[in-house]
Amino acid sequence: MTDHDVDAMTVRSALVLASRAPSVHNSQPWKWRYDHRTVHLVADLRRWLPVTDTPGRDLVISCGAALHHLRVALAAAGVAASVQRMPDPDNPDVLATLSLSARPASDAELRAATMITRRRTDRRRYTDWPVPIAFLDEIVARAAAEGVVARPVDEAGGRAALIDAMQAAAERQQALDQYTTETTVWTGRLTGDDGIPAANLLVDASTGDGLARTFPAGTITQEPGHDGAVLLVLGTASDDPLSQLRAGEALSSMLLHATDLGLATCPLTQPLEVGSTYRALRDELLGARLAPQVILRVGWAPQGPVPPTPRRPLEDMIERIRR
Ligand SMILES: Cc1cc2nc3c(=O)[nH]c(=O)nc-3n(C[C@H](O)[C@H](O)[C@H](O)COP(=O)(O)O)c2cc1C
Repeated sequence: MTDHDVDAMTVRSALVLASRAPSVHNSQPWKWRYDHRTVHLVADLRRWLPVTDTPGRDLVISCGAALHHLRVALAAAGVAASVQRMPDPDNPDVLATLSLSARPASDAELRAATMITRRRTDRRRYTDWPVPIAFLDEIVARAAAEGVVARPVDEAGGRAALIDAMQAAAERQQALDQYTTETTVWTGRLTGDDGIPAANLLVDASTGDGLARTFPAGTITQEPGHDGAVLLVLGTASDDPLSQLRAGEALSSMLLHATDLGLATCPLTQPLEVGSTYRALRDELLGARLAPQVILRVGWAPQGPVPPTPRRPLEDMIERIRR
C-alpha cells in the first residue's frame, strides 16, 4: 500500500452510503466490485423491472444516482475519485470505474454526505408555501453541473400535458396483468430489504392531483387538498445509457441539495416508461430537442419526515477484486 491508497474499510463504508441512493421501486439494481484503488459500478440486470421499465432507463438512472451518492460518500471520507463512465464497450453492464486516491475532505463535502441519510422519497402532497426561486435556481444549477438540463414544468411549461401523460401511461400500464403483478411483488411490502414498504405509501394513492403512480395502499394518511409541489423535468442531449447515467447523477445531486435546503422530493417516471407518452412529453416539455429522463416533485413537506426505506445487506451487492 502507498500513502495514496485507500483502506478497504473506508471503501466499504462509502459503498454502504452509496447504496442509500434512490432507485425505481427500491430495486437497488447495482453491484460493486472494489479494492483499495478501484470501484466498478455494474448494473444488476437480475433486478430489472421488465414490464414497468421496459426500456431499462429507470435502471440506469438508479445506478447513476448510486454513482453520485458514492462520489459524495468518498469525498466526505477523504477520497478523490476519478470517474470513467461506460469504460468498456465490450461490457456495457460496467457503467463506471472509479480510480481512488487519498486527499483531505472539505466541510462542504462532509455536509453533503450527511444529506444521504436525511433524504427520503416523500409521496405526500406538499404545502402551498412557495419554493423560493433562488432555491430552484440552486437545484437547477446542480443538474447543470452534471451536464443535465432541469426545466420547470409550470402552466406555461406543459403541466397539463404532464398530467394527461401520467393518466394515459397509468391506463396503459395498468391494463397489463404483468404490470399489476410486478407492482404487487415490489411494492406495499411489510418486510424485506428491497422494494417499497407500505409505510412509505399513501393510504389513498389516487388523491395526488393526478401526478402520483398508483401503488398498493400504504399506511401514510394525509389531509385532502391541493399539491403545492413544483415540478421539474430533467433532460439530456440524447437517450443512450451514458446520458441516463448522467441523469441519475444529476438527480442525486438535486435531491441531496434539496434535502439540505429542507425541501421534500419525489422522482416520477411513469409517463416516461411508455413510448407514446414519452414522445408526447419530449415534444411538449422539451420542444423535441432534449430526451426527458425523470420528472421531479419538489416542495415543503406537510409534516415531519416519512420513514427510511430498507436496503439489501452490503455483502449481497459487493465483490472484492483479488489481484
Ligand atoms: C429512476 C427512478 C424512478 C422512480 N420512479 C418513481 C415513481 O414513478 N413514483 C414514485 O413514487 N417514486 C419513484 N421513485 C422513488 C423510489 O421508489 C424510491 O427511491 C425508492 O423506493 C427508495 O426510497 P427512498 O428514495 O425513500 O430511499 C423513483 C426513483 C428512481 C431513482
